[in-house]
Amino acid sequence: MRFRVIKSRSCRDCGFCSTVNICLNAECIGCLSCYYACPYEAKRIIEDKSERRYVKVLIDGVQYSVPERISVKEALRLSGYNIGIFPEEGDIQAPCNLGGCWSCIVMADGEPIRSCITGVKEGMKIETATSLTPLRIVHGPEPHTVGGKATPWTEGKGTRYIEVAIWAAGCNLRCRSCQNYSVTYDNSSEPLTPREAARRVTYYRRIYGVNGMAISGGEPTLNKRWLIEYFRELKRLNPDGKARLHLDSNGTLLTPSYIDDLVEAGVNNMGVEPKGLRLETFMNISGIEDRSLAERYLNTSWSAAKYLIDNYRDKVYVGIGIPYNSDFMSYEELAAIGDRIASIDPEVQVCVLDYFPTFRRRWMRRPSYNEMLRVKKILNEAGLKCVIVQTVLGHIGP
Ligand code: FES
Repeated sequence: MRFRVIKSRSCRDCGFCSTVNICLNAECIGCLSCYYACPYEAKRIIEDKSERRYVKVLIDGVQYSVPERISVKEALRLSGYNIGIFPEEGDIQAPCNLGGCWSCIVMADGEPIRSCITGVKEGMKIETATSLTPLRIVHGPEPHTVGGKATPWTEGKGTRYIEVAIWAAGCNLRCRSCQNYSVTYDNSSEPLTPREAARRVTYYRRIYGVNGMAISGGEPTLNKRWLIEYFRELKRLNPDGKARLHLDSNGTLLTPSYIDDLVEAGVNNMGVEPKGLRLETFMNISGIEDRSLAERYLNTSWSAAKYLIDNYRDKVYVGIGIPYNSDFMSYEELAAIGDRIASIDPEVQVCVLDYFPTFRRRWMRRPSYNEMLRVKKILNEAGLKCVIVQTVLGHIGP
């Protein structure tokens, strides 16, 4: 069944789909990028019963016929190519399907394109094996005084800047309370090469006189080749022992070999944020409806936290993030999360993020200061020694 996306009457003309997450195609190709990006859930998917002709495309030198008004990624899938999500799985990886991560890059008629959001055309010549420099949309750099879940707590005192950060577009999750949705769903900004991004971050490090250089998102781990090259270049430009190369991730794609490669590339500070302990909680927060995929994501993020601590305790400063809001997490689950982290390492830095109302959960209430103090107490009682909670009044540390 083919489908397309239409605007519903709940559209508020906010402009998000004409300025941030834009459509590259004259007609809907059913890629769903705008459907997931709309902050007001004002897009609807409808069945498309209109006649479709077939178009001829040349993929890696072989001719195929595929229906018109579909994405290049879909044409590849229909032609027998495996589309993966996890790094190194599939012939190409398309983890975001939003146009932000550029992981699904192929050549089409001699130009690099994002196969997930670009429509197929009659006579298109597609090449999947590309030796192109990888690309990625990133925002920033910007300095900040607090840092993320893995920024060493001891560096975060006072009002001086402690890090410069960039934020990578695209995410494999669909969190309805996405805390940074204007980056996550951005497919319209110019992408950067790893070298361009590393140079900008290094420049800003010098301007602000900091040692921490963070990348967050969106989800920065989506485009593995880009991220590894970025950290290698950042390390080359910042060879001093004080440089803190910081990756802030949801952990859902961080397999052991990916972590090994990141550490080899120079990462020495890593934050992982398993979104809940119960699968239902993860699905509620992340918006992932495919149960088996959600289970794999959740298990991968918890395993990543353990693998990092077990294998790189001496090389990488690790922080674990916990999203909290009573709308999606009970105190009982929080205590169970505390037990699980304490069983891995009671000394590890844990930062609880008080999820605030935004994006598709604008009606959600931000946890009160006292509620976050209670959250901290619960985790301390589970045996965790270094608990930081984010509150309306700022961070409360251990
Ligand atoms: S999967 Fe196409 S840009 Fe992310």
